[in-house]
Amino acid sequence: VNHLLGIKYLQPEDIDLIFKTADHFKEVINRPIKKVPSLRDITIANLFFENSTRTRLSFELAEKRLSADVINFSAASSSVKKGETLIDTVNNILSMKVDMVVMRHPNPGAGIFLSKHVNASIINAGDGAHEHPTQALLDSYSIREKLGEVQGKKVVIVGDILHSRVALSNIFALKLQGASVKVCGPKTLIPKHIESLGVEVEPDLKAALEWCDVANMLRVQNERMEISYFPSTREYIKQFGLNKKLLDSLNKEIVIMHPGPINRGVEITSDVADSDHAIILDQVQNGVAVRMAVIYLLASKIKQ
Ligand code: CP
Repeated sequence: VNHLLGIKYLQPEDIDLIFKTADHFKEVINRPIKKVPSLRDITIANLFFENSTRTRLSFELAEKRLSADVINFSAASSSVKKGETLIDTVNNILSMKVDMVVMRHPNPGAGIFLSKHVNASIINAGDGAHEHPTQALLDSYSIREKLGEVQGKKVVIVGDILHSRVALSNIFALKLQGASVKVCGPKTLIPKHIESLGVEVEPDLKAALEWCDVANMLRVQNERMEISYFPSTREYIKQFGLNKKLLDSLNKEIVIMHPGPINRGVEITSDVADSDHAIILDQVQNGVAVRMAVIYLLASKIKQ
């Protein structure tokens, strides 16, 4: 059985194939009839043990555009609340003849664990602070769309790197494609030894922005913090918030990205998030085509 558990298990040619397939599906979903019959014989369960807006809806739409049968499960309204285990939950769902599971879970490695215990294709839709592979794929796809290619581009990831699955998956994906990556944020929110992943730490936001072609602005994930990692939100905004004045002070144009949800006025001001420099909603739009490509490529292996 084949899975997408993390970018760290992919090769550059896998990303290339996903993007070429996504190019085709992006063209399909811009037609008046947005659906293809490719996955009429596939059933997919979307299991969300953690909140989501974009990822959950994007996967569901991608599956429906491919004509798969879709069932949705939200832990908050399920028998998980009565003490049922993850493996029991998933095996009960799989006994209804499900071929593929898309799962978001608060525990790092939850998808890897599940892949060893159940007989279905697993797609990781975010596992704790570990990986969010389809987010990184749609981010790189959006850079490729905007700037022509990812190879050779300079990307800075700004904010709470420590708690971010988006940061880790993006670092893996960008490095695989030959981009240069820096991270910028409070020292307490940068993992120790991050340089071992081939990225540089730039503590000064203005210097990071002067260097980069693309700035990916991340949210401070207060929900994953047991203690306060930074003196105050006001201090964070002052040192790491991106605003129009700072953007205008650069001697160049840069592309602004954000995976969402945005904390407006904290990591990014509204006048930047809603400006022509930002491709935030393009990222969301591309997410459907990229997820269609991932599901289609995995499903074609199930069918063999
Ligand atoms: N970018 C992202 O994963 O958003 P959601 O948490 O809303 O799915």
